[in-house]
Amino acid sequence: MSAAKRDYHEDDIRAGLVGSVMGNDPVKANELQKIAVEESRLGIPLIIGFDVIHGLRGVFPIAIAEAGSFDDDLMERTARMAAEESRAYGISWNFAPMLDVARDARWGRVSEGPGEDPYLASRFARAKIRGLQGRTDSAETYVAACVKHFVAYSTCEGGRDYNTTSMSVSQLYNVYLPPFKAAVEEGAATAMASFMASFNDLNGVPCTVNAWTLRDILKGAYGMEGFVVSDANGIRECVSHGIAANERDAGVQAAKAGLDMDMGTHIFRDHLKKAIEDGLLPVEVVDEAVRRILTVKTWLGLFERPYTPEETIRAYAEALPESHAALCREAAEKSIVLLKNEGNILPIKRDAKVSLVGSLAGNAGEVVGAWSMGWEKKDCVSILDGLRNAGATVRYYPCGGPEGELNEDEIQSACNDGDVIVAVVGELISMSGEASSKADITLPGKQRELLERLTASGKPVVTVLMNGRPLALGWEAERLPVLLEAWHLGIQMGNAVASVIFGDVNPSGKLTSSFPFVTGQEPTYYNHPNTGRPAGKSKFTSKYLDAPAKALYPFGYGLSYTTFAYENLRVTDTGDSLDIAVTVRNTGSREGTEVAQFYIRDVTASLVRPVKELKGYRRVALSPGEAREVRLTLSKRNLGFYDNRGEYVLEDGLFRVYAGGDSENVLEQELDVRF
Ligand code: BGC
Repeated sequence: MSAAKRDYHEDDIRAGLVGSVMGNDPVKANELQKIAVEESRLGIPLIIGFDVIHGLRGVFPIAIAEAGSFDDDLMERTARMAAEESRAYGISWNFAPMLDVARDARWGRVSEGPGEDPYLASRFARAKIRGLQGRTDSAETYVAACVKHFVAYSTCEGGRDYNTTSMSVSQLYNVYLPPFKAAVEEGAATAMASFMASFNDLNGVPCTVNAWTLRDILKGAYGMEGFVVSDANGIRECVSHGIAANERDAGVQAAKAGLDMDMGTHIFRDHLKKAIEDGLLPVEVVDEAVRRILTVKTWLGLFERPYTPEETIRAYAEALPESHAALCREAAEKSIVLLKNEGNILPIKRDAKVSLVGSLAGNAGEVVGAWSMGWEKKDCVSILDGLRNAGATVRYYPCGGPEGELNEDEIQSACNDGDVIVAVVGELISMSGEASSKADITLPGKQRELLERLTASGKPVVTVLMNGRPLALGWEAERLPVLLEAWHLGIQMGNAVASVIFGDVNPSGKLTSSFPFVTGQEPTYYNHPNTGRPAGKSKFTSKYLDAPAKALYPFGYGLSYTTFAYENLRVTDTGDSLDIAVTVRNTGSREGTEVAQFYIRDVTASLVRPVKELKGYRRVALSPGEAREVRLTLSKRNLGFYDNRGEYVLEDGLFRVYAGGDSENVLEQELDVRF
């Protein structure tokens, strides 16, 4: 696969040496496709891929945020929109969804995936596969997914990108494989999809040449019929890993292990033919790879319709469809998480004079987040624009941001002018995503100092966070009255933030990743295995001397402008299932939506199990005073786990069932379960 943006390798395409390219220019795509179809010997169309991770032109929230909507239908609709837009831009293959369960916020790529929980990540996976690929024979407006990164890439030691990973078989099967398995079950098993092998080594074997993960698990046990592509330059990197003597050796190992397409190097093209002639590689291996790639191209209809119609290209060149902007806004509104709202400072009155502070607030280019490349500036709404669109009286002070110095005069004026100060702080887009690991995940630059100065004014301060990873917010949570987690929400970010700030939208998003007090607590995640010495008062328990023994804000957490109470948890064993019911009551004074969450704990098992595991959730809209019974029928098959041979086991014994509005504040009931 050729990744060059400017050099499109026309001669190589003509010579039949290129089967896929990367790009999002539909005019260029048609030109290249014409060369492939009309001028190459076999006339096989190209498959054109691109990183459409959270939207192309209609950019919606980064995955770590969007999954926090706990709204599967929304996640499917945004993927569907991304697929439609992709096709209009000549792209038929999306390098998404990214399904790496990630628990170390130092890793910059936590932004790209659905968070720390394998169950939520599996629901996200299914929704995305449905949206991208549909369930249809006609793929005209659908794309082939490229599910990535297979596998365990997110467990890079110390959160340092590309670093080594090692883990037990049971951990791999219980935590990291489930979303990939779910994707396969939802449709990526058919020859409609592809997978991308990850850069990392897993227990010493790079995933690019890992026959166990690619052939045995993915293509064997899961029955994935599409193809596997390397990550960019992944085959060559096996030489750097020290697992291959040279490029040819790396190419042969990769092909034998089940890798079907080479991204970023010419290794397959330059070496496999000779390797077959020399008896180093059975020709059947290459035949199989070719068959897999051609079946995906066939499903996509590329042989019948290789070109993007001119009228489609023109339609998108004019303006982003309004329905796409509306969906981006809905997704952004549902992804915002209210972390703290002391004194109910939020929502603020529309006629309040607002001092808006921070360079991120006025920068429309910073709303889109990592891995977004098809957006247009004119579609992007900064927080400043959003507040103005909402009719706010706002004065803007760009002073203070992830980089740069503070400006005394601006701070003074901001403090003097407004009735309320809205401070937008966080990270630049470039601080999360690939190759953006951080050893310190507190607010970068002089932003704490800025917040300290603003709060010293005595005016109410609303802190809006724009970031691509969980931040260590212990300092902020102690000193600041309001924290609104707004992530990188995509092109409609400003409008969404304004709707929440003024109370047109009541926040309902929840955290998909636990936030620590301090960086040194990473990895912090709610579903950790228990220890023999769970954190407690005694010194000799599992904790740090200088940090609390829990997350600052745990998985599933998020406040609303109203309040919810959970009552009357009832669990009934119906033979094959557990019938779980809980009453959720809106105890506040305005309408709101709560994400009711159901967890379990396998109290005694033959392997140490997590202290809690998410098993279901429901979004419930409730008027003030309204109570509703929320039910979950949990099949007992979902109470098992994988052992260290990768076998799924169901063990009789004591279980705890929990229900609540986050992973910590829950009601619980214990019961003995027999299978
Ligand atoms: C990333 C992939 C991405 C690919 C193509 C790599 O560096 O790891 O996630 O799909 O580049 O852009």
